[in-house]
Amino acid sequence: MTKRIPFISGNWKMHNTIAESKALAKAIADCKENKNNADIMIAPSYTSLAAVAEAVKGSKVAVAAQDVHFEEKGAFTSAVAPSQIKDAGASHVIIGHSERRSLFGDTDAILNKKVAAALKHGLTVVFCVGETLAEREADKTLGVIESQLENGLKGFTAEQLSSMVVAYEPVWAIGTGKTATPEQAQEVHASTRKYLSSKYGEDFASKVRIVYGGSVKTDNVDAIMAQPDVDGALVGGQSLVAEQFIRIINFN
Ligand code: G3P
Repeated sequence: MTKRIPFISGNWKMHNTIAESKALAKAIADCKENKNNADIMIAPSYTSLAAVAEAVKGSKVAVAAQDVHFEEKGAFTSAVAPSQIKDAGASHVIIGHSERRSLFGDTDAILNKKVAAALKHGLTVVFCVGETLAEREADKTLGVIESQLENGLKGFTAEQLSSMVVAYEPVWAIGTGKTATPEQAQEVHASTRKYLSSKYGEDFASKVRIVYGGSVKTDNVDAIMAQPDVDGALVGGQSLVAEQFIRIINFN
């Protein structure tokens, strides 16, 4: 079985001033404790990207933007281009977060263009998928996730997607304190891997990291990470507190 390196990531969402972001990033970067040898990623707001990239320089911590626009440049007021986030020091980008999908109208077609733009600029994509509570209750979870992957990643080869990380974030578990049980997470991760295998081949599927997000906390991370198809976490709330995030990085 392929051993996948754990990927522990923090999505800071719309929090923190530049000074607060720098301090948090530094506390994470300065911590030498990483017993699982995990890859670590943090995603501050655009305004803090450059300062955070500077603060973590030379450490194992990678910096991500929380979104990106698909155009290269031009009259797109408020949008930020892939070259601009790279210029600010980001190597990764989160695409398709459920808050982008539900609050800002990011459709599968838009997300597909964002993935194309990010890959063109050599950014590592963290592609988010997840079902709403209504979809889960209607037993549509696996179909919804397959369709988000199918449409969002349309047109790319396994080679192009080789660095991608998939984040499964059930919408009903985000910021609600309701975590998917480890078994629920495992079921979706396993079926997602199976789908990716049918689409991109066995080798791709055995290597791609599928991380879980949705109320990951210091007291549930160990059980979630114990699942064979859970390769990491995308943490919201608890990534804003250095000690909590560091404990999550050092899951048992
Ligand atoms: O992207 C991470 C996220 O949506 C989960 O947030 O606060 O439930 O950990 P939270």
